[in-house]
Amino acid sequence: MAVNHIMLIGCGKMGSALLEGWLRDASLDAVFTIIEPDHSRLGWVVNESRVSLYEGCAAAVAANATESTMIVLAVKPQMMDEALAAIRNSNDANSAYLSIAAGISTRWLKQRLGSDAVVLRAMPNTPAAVGRGITALFADAPDAVRALAHQLLLAVGDVVHLENEDLMDAVTAVSGSGPAYVFLLTEALGMAGVKAGLPESLAKELAKVTVCGAGALMAAVDTPPATLRENVTSQGGTTAAALSVLMADEGLPQLMTEAVDAAKKRSIQLGE
Ligand SMILES: NC(=O)c1ccc[n+]([C@@H]2O[C@H](COP(=O)([O-])OP(=O)(O)OC[C@H]3O[C@@H](n4cnc5c(N)ncnc54)[C@H](OP(=O)(O)O)[C@@H]3O)[C@@H](O)[C@H]2O)c1
Repeated sequence: MAVNHIMLIGCGKMGSALLEGWLRDASLDAVFTIIEPDHSRLGWVVNESRVSLYEGCAAAVAANATESTMIVLAVKPQMMDEALAAIRNSNDANSAYLSIAAGISTRWLKQRLGSDAVVLRAMPNTPAAVGRGITALFADAPDAVRALAHQLLLAVGDVVHLENEDLMDAVTAVSGSGPAYVFLLTEALGMAGVKAGLPESLAKELAKVTVCGAGALMAAVDTPPATLRENVTSQGGTTAAALSVLMADEGLPQLMTEAVDAAKKRSIQLGE
C-alpha cells in the first residue's frame, strides 16, 4: 500500500497531541508535512525523519511538499480562512480535508474548498495529549478516507462516528468542553476542602487524586457511573449528606444541563 502523506496545518496544543500520537502509531505508514509558524515548541520533532516542518503554506508550496492524502486543519477557527486561502490552490485535487476546528461546518469549508472537496469534521478533546481523548468524527467520505481519518484520530484515544453533523454542537458541549468542567469540579472540591479546615496543598492533592482515581475506576470497570455512585453511598452516611445537596433541585444535574446548553448555543453561534 502507498505511504500516506499527511499534512497538518497548525501544530499548537491539539495539533501536537495528534502528531505525537501519529508518530507513536507503528501501524500508521505515513510521512508528515507540518505547517506551523511557531517552531519554538516543536524542538521534539526536528530529528524525526518522517516529519518536514514549514513555517507557512508558501514555504511548503515552494518546496513542492503539498501533495497530501489528508490535510488536517488544526488552526483556531478565526485563522481558518487565512490557512485555507494559502493552501487551496496549491494542492492535489485528490487530497481530503479533516478539520478539528470547533464550530466550523463542512458546508462552510466546502464553500471555500469547492463543493467537490472531500471534507471530514472531528471534535477531539484535550486528554488527547496523553492518548486518552475521545473524538467524534463526521465523515461523509469514501471508505478509505473515512478509515484513514479514523486511524489518525484513534492515535489519541477513542473515536465515535456521527451520522448527523448537526450533533457536533452538542458533542462540543459535552466532550469537547467537558474536560474543563472536570477541572472546575476538582478546583471546587479543593476549595471546599480548604473551607472545611484542610491546609490548601493537602486539599488540592486530595481533590486532584480523587478525581483522577474516580476517572480511572470508571475507565477500568463496565459499571455505570450511577451504580458506582450508589455503591459508595450508604443510607444516612456522609456521602449521602453531600449528595442530598448536590442532587437537590437546581443542584449539579440542573447546573450541568444549563452549562451544556450554553456551550451548545455558543457552538451554534460560532458556526454562523
Ligand atoms: N484545545 C482543545 O481542547 C480543542 C478541542 C477540540 C478542538 N479544538 C480545535 O483545535 C484547533 C486548534 O486548537 P488548539 O487549542 O490546538 O490551538 P493552538 O494551540 O492555538 O494551535 C493552533 C496553531 O496554529 C498555528 N497557526 C495559526 N495560523 C496558522 C496558519 N495560517 N497556518 C499554519 N498554522 C497556523 C498557531 O500558531 P500561532 O500561535 O503562532 O498563531 C498555533 O500554533 C481549533 O480549531 C480548536 O477549535 C481544540
